[in-house]
Amino acid sequence: MISITEPSFDDSEVEMVRSVLASKWVTQGPMTERFEAAIAANQRARHAMACTSCTAALHLAAMALELGPGDEVIVPAFTWITSAHAAEYVGAKAVFVDVDLATFNIDPAALEAAITPRTRAVVAVHLFGLAAPMDEIRAICGPRGIRIIEDAACAIATTYKGAPVGAIGDLGCFSFHPRKVVTTGEGGAVTTNDDRLAAMVRSQRNHGATGQPGDEVEPHGPWTMATFDRIGFNLRLSDIQAAVGVAQMAKLDRLVADRRASARYYTRNLREVNDLVLPVAGDVEGHTFQSYVIRIGEGGRKRRNAVMAALAKAGMQTRPGTHAPYRLGYYRDKYAIAADAFPNALEAEDTTITLPIVPFMGHSEQDRVIDELRQALKN
Ligand SMILES: Cc1ncc(COP(=O)(O)O)c(C=O)c1O
Repeated sequence: MISITEPSFDDSEVEMVRSVLASKWVTQGPMTERFEAAIAANQRARHAMACTSCTAALHLAAMALELGPGDEVIVPAFTWITSAHAAEYVGAKAVFVDVDLATFNIDPAALEAAITPRTRAVVAVHLFGLAAPMDEIRAICGPRGIRIIEDAACAIATTYKGAPVGAIGDLGCFSFHPRKVVTTGEGGAVTTNDDRLAAMVRSQRNHGATGQPGDEVEPHGPWTMATFDRIGFNLRLSDIQAAVGVAQMAKLDRLVADRRASARYYTRNLREVNDLVLPVAGDVEGHTFQSYVIRIGEGGRKRRNAVMAALAKAGMQTRPGTHAPYRLGYYRDKYAIAADAFPNALEAEDTTITLPIVPFMGHSEQDRVIDELRQALKN
């Protein structure tokens, strides 16, 4: 069986977890600070705040920007559903726009066309580890005061024109789910260069805690409580998970280099196969290939599914790229969006296949996938 991917663990994760358990401090604490420092350094962001998932990170970002009812948030029509949920969690409206089929990322022209006086933010998704066109997005959003949330769930270590993603827009949101390049089981982080936004995120992941009562109310002391001036949640990561994250971040360069090598091998050996579209567009230099996603040129969803079924029968796990969330129940029913409203997102949803990249998998396993794929396309 070849899995779609697997985490890469060794004794270093075990040792780090052991040290946290021995310390008896297991909730957010010193190990989480170490994990955050590693993320901030890697993404060249002033602040990194760990939390329970990227979904939580997106929610925290939407709250930090004080988005709410009456606001519109532009989201690509091909992405994981929580890129859009971030807006809806806070009562804002997710407004979908089509993607560029060559990169699966937001189409800047479609973004510009969807702007209304109510547009407050855009979620720029760096899908599958390939950076969204940030120059174009910033040129459109900057002069209009539209805030940019980078959904970097798939994009730890991804760069855009040499700059790490996550601190190019206002806030970046990362995932450490097991299908990502580094994992903490479940986990996420928000990055930003903005001190005020960082303070909001820290407060809202921790029940809305801030500050101290004024001296006139009660004197400060070790017993003094925070003031809880806003609503908040408990979205803290535990130090046990952060310990895994610290060990994983220490090998990030190796993990990324290996994924890139595996991706290059697929590309070299699939280039000549008729009827396949390979991930070779956009800022491929900075692509980390969290997912290696191909597209079947002809035959639509039926043929794509048949190819995936053939690979599954041969013991190889694949997945569709991701979803077109506007076609999924919640958005389809709430906004009654026509199925063909976003043709590229629709095409991507119907024809993409994620090929397995297991860390350090070696060419012989990739050759098996390549041979099986060629065979399935012929049948
Ligand atoms: C683009 C994108 N955004 C958000 C998420 C949500 O991440 P998490 O599972 O950490 O909540 C994912 C997860 O796959 C994703 O791919």
